[in-house]
Amino acid sequence: MTETGTAPRVALVTGATRGIGAAISRQLAALGLTVVLGARDRAAAEHVAAALGRARAVPVQLDVTDAASVSRCQRLIAAEVGSVDVLVNNAGVLLDDEVPMLAVGEDILEATLQVNLVGVWRMVRALVPAMVERGYGRVVNLSSSLASLAPPETGSPAYSVSKAALNMLTAQLALELRGTGVLVNCLDPGWVRTDMGGPTAPRSPEEGADTAVFLATLDDDGPTGGFFRDRERVAW
Ligand SMILES: NC(=O)c1ccc[n+]([C@@H]2O[C@H](COP(=O)([O-])OP(=O)(O)OC[C@H]3O[C@@H](n4cnc5c(N)ncnc54)[C@H](OP(=O)(O)O)[C@@H]3O)[C@@H](O)[C@H]2O)c1
Repeated sequence: MTETGTAPRVALVTGATRGIGAAISRQLAALGLTVVLGARDRAAAEHVAAALGRARAVPVQLDVTDAASVSRCQRLIAAEVGSVDVLVNNAGVLLDDEVPMLAVGEDILEATLQVNLVGVWRMVRALVPAMVERGYGRVVNLSSSLASLAPPETGSPAYSVSKAALNMLTAQLALELRGTGVLVNCLDPGWVRTDMGGPTAPRSPEEGADTAVFLATLDDDGPTGGFFRDRERVAW
């Protein structure tokens, strides 16, 4: 229970065992939320849950490209924590770093869209209807500067297309959910030192997590339908 006697909010983070997702999970737990740690490898999620110490953390096997895995995750949530108030769609893949568009194979395109776009849509369908019913929810989508059309950058075409589509998913969902108590936003975490970002990136995972945590814990009168960087709304 919190100081006010209410149950702590519950957040589900996808891809919670490394990189920015692990940092988001640590920061949400430090703020007192119960964190459901989604990971393809359940043992890895259990390891992160143990490292969170006294904070309430619930490990769950979750592959966002696998509808059966998402259904099992829904059942575990119902059994262990009841419902989810905050969905952080962090899981992502970058499979075409520095590959010219005409050299990107259909398998790479398909795999990228399955995680970065279809997987997010699947998680939204699984968890957001209950948020609408309860009149409270926060959906946070990890996008990228490479999603931006203002102006676009070259370098990772399938990844960029997937994240631009994720931005539109964010805008569409936010519009549909206006007035329901569910706020939906996306963010660019900056260039972050993770397996994806590489060792020379300027930001730590904790710095990369900051805006996601800010959006995950917005007050009820907070923004919806925005693209954020460093806690500020930026151009799409
Ligand atoms: N790092 C950057 O500079 C940067 C910049 C802009 C945006 N972003 C975005 O920030 C997010 C996190 O990036 P990161 O740098 O932390 O990446 P990362 O270190 O490569 O970690 C990616 C995470 O996604 C998970 N994942 C991949 N496929 C999955 C699937 N099918 N189902 C569930 N989880 C899956 C991975 O799980 P496994 O451990 O099971 O593989 C891992 O936990 C991504 O959406 C990324 O696009 C990162």
